[in-house]
Amino acid sequence: MHRGIRATLPFLISTLFFTILKSAAAADDAPRLSPAFAGRLAAVACTVGISYELDGALLPATRDDALPDGYEPADLISLAGTGIPQWGPQQLRSLIIPDALTMTQAAHVDGIQLAVSSGYRSHGTQAATYRYWVSVRGPEQADRVSARPGHSQHQLGTAIDFNFGSLGGFAASPAGIWLWDHAHEFGFVFPYTPAGVARSGYISEPWHVRWVGRELATLMWEEDYQHSDTLIADDYVALARDSLRGLAQAGPAVCATARSA
Ligand code: DAL
Ligand code: ZN
Repeated sequence: MHRGIRATLPFLISTLFFTILKSAAAADDAPRLSPAFAGRLAAVACTVGISYELDGALLPATRDDALPDGYEPADLISLAGTGIPQWGPQQLRSLIIPDALTMTQAAHVDGIQLAVSSGYRSHGTQAATYRYWVSVRGPEQADRVSARPGHSQHQLGTAIDFNFGSLGGFAASPAGIWLWDHAHEFGFVFPYTPAGVARSGYISEPWHVRWVGRELATLMWEEDYQHSDTLIADDYVALARDSLRGLAQAGPAVCATARSA
């Protein structure tokens, strides 16, 4: 390939993604993106590829955005026999079992016990959970601690609560500190950080992690999303969805070109 083209191709590719992302960002209150960041996101999109099963794993599930009506992942499995410690019978998507298992094993090696206290929750289970919180705290407080049915990341089958953390003291516990420092290494992120309370609408939940894959989780960690009050985990998830859509529009050849440049 001509050396000039070879030198400018990565720039052209990130510019293409940047243009796509910028137009997506302009549609809502998403923060401004630097071309450098758009380029990194494009690289992640190229790494995971449009066939990667992030379509389901990156679905929006926030206070504002509901999951598709009747959403239920097809690959739910029981944790019994997976080696992942659990409290009571729990289910997760098989997609995330390798990373969840490796993470609990790595924690164990470091002397930390992580057990899943809540994994997949159906729409019906979440409805009952939300009703419970309304009955004990009233509707306003319930909306700060519990997602309405259809809005919970637990319905994705890729979110985990560890160690009944909501009972208190988890953030400062050895398990909480370990998880905060290492979750990204295994593809998990924290949607409900202390800094992001105003943006997410939920109280800080240091026990709740959502799987987004190692590439995206590491990129987010490097961008210090855990301390940001403007660009929280679900903002990055939305940007990654846009980036994958951009990749689908541009065609996978753009990544092959980038790799061979
Ligand atoms: N506690 C989180 C927000 C949920 O109910 O999914
Ligand atoms: Zn949770």
